[in-house]
Amino acid sequence: MHENETKLIDAATEARGRAYAPYSDFQVGAAVEAENGDIYIGCNVESASYGLTVCAERVAIWKGISCGEKRFTRIAVVVDTEELTPPCGVCRQIIWEFCGDVPVILSNLEGKTETIQMSELLPRAFDSKFLK
Ligand code: THU
Repeated sequence: MHENETKLIDAATEARGRAYAPYSDFQVGAAVEAENGDIYIGCNVESASYGLTVCAERVAIWKGISCGEKRFTRIAVVVDTEELTPPCGVCRQIIWEFCGDVPVILSNLEGKTETIQMSELLPRAFDSKFLK
């Protein structure tokens, strides 16, 4: 595995440790790499109303955007599941819009990893090009 992929997985693992998931007890960590190499991390943050819960992937992307980033070059998602957990449908849309066809690195705490391209996770995606 490439060194910067390991760095991204480590950052996502650290973020997972901060997950606020008292309702699902399902902790997720994510990390996105900006074009200049900076890393932004996120964890899932749940709400007692359930529906207001925000996934780790979107927290990481919103953090980067709010710090002035425009695009991201890769994302890592870490969950403690034997079968590697991919981003949910809502997050796939947001990853596509802010990252494009980037590698999505899935990992668990045992060090199992798999990299999938976004275009494979969200084929024929809707995005801003249709609005023009
Ligand atoms: N979750 C994420 O953070 N990312 C995903 O892509 C899948 C789901 C969170 C949301 C919720 O807090 C918990 O996992 C269970 O769905």
